Amino acid sequence: MNEKILRATAAALMADHKGLLAMDESNPTCNKRFAALGIPQTPDTRRAWRELIVMTPGLADSISGAILYDETIRQSTRAGMPFAQALVERGIILGIKVDAGAKVLAGHPGEEVTEGLDGLRERLVGYAALGARFAKWRGVIAIGDGLPSKACMTANAHALARYAALCQEAGLVPIVEPEVLMTGPHTQQRSAEVTAQVLHEVFEQLHLQGVLLEGMLLKPNMVLPGLDCADQSDVDKIADATVNLFMRAVPAAVPGIAFLSGGQSAELASARLNAMNLRFTGRLPWALTYSFSRAIQQPALDIWRGDAANVQKAQRALQHRAACNRAARRGEYTPSMEHVAST
Ligand code: G3H
Repeated sequence: MNEKILRATAAALMADHKGLLAMDESNPTCNKRFAALGIPQTPDTRRAWRELIVMTPGLADSISGAILYDETIRQSTRAGMPFAQALVERGIILGIKVDAGAKVLAGHPGEEVTEGLDGLRERLVGYAALGARFAKWRGVIAIGDGLPSKACMTANAHALARYAALCQEAGLVPIVEPEVLMTGPHTQQRSAEVTAQVLHEVFEQLHLQGVLLEGMLLKPNMVLPGLDCADQSDVDKIADATVNLFMRAVPAAVPGIAFLSGGQSAELASARLNAMNLRFTGRLPWALTYSFSRAIQQPALDIWRGDAANVQKAQRALQHRAACNRAARRGEYTPSMEHVAST
């Protein structure tokens, strides 16, 4: 393991009050989002959408690293420039999703475990040759009646730690993503209990596998009530619950926590991240930033809808969301920023 390279990459990803852009939706997930807007679901429309993102003017002002999917890291702009090259030339560090998706966990109805460890060592070498310097693996934990089980939490934490160790061996910074889902009517308190349990499992397994904490990043959920919970907490309560929990569960050696958005609206995700950074200024041991997919991409996708005539307007919306989140990382986001219309 080359600790110096891992520490330097993790630090570069967290530098300058920037955050990450997740553009690593698998083909089925990307197709689902396209279908909802009537966009044809083909390799070329996926390529065109990713080209729109990669070529957005000013993207690198707010985005330090972009996470790609296997299809995307091999694609090029219409003019023939590989996306990997276009991102690197813009000063954006290249990342890659390497898990093979969440699959039904045997013997545990309603629960899943993420697969993809077989052959991962060789795949990581291939991705590094394509320019990737960091990777992502997402484990999924559902809250429900009797869920999550200890078996599900342990299986996912074990896989995340095995993946992280393999990444570090290959010189790639692992983004460790244990996502407690927002789906359901559970309370914020229940989300806090489960998120704490999951984080304890994850850091125990990372320790067991000898993962260098200084050379990894954590990508968790915020501590939120379920989407169907009647009591939707206010922004400050969410910020306090989230940061207080992470202070107890995440070692200070981890350089950064980059949240997923998980189905929150784009504006709420910015406001909640902002409140965390504002209310805990000077007290955070790690950088607190974003690694959003939907909360950065969705407004732009709603504008683009597969029509070339909408590309520039969609790019302005994307750049605006990225800039709002960079402001949130500094505790300087205000809802009035939303009135600067992306016309
Ligand atoms: O793995 C999930 C993505 O990287 C984050 O997506 O921000 O839409 O939850 P999201």
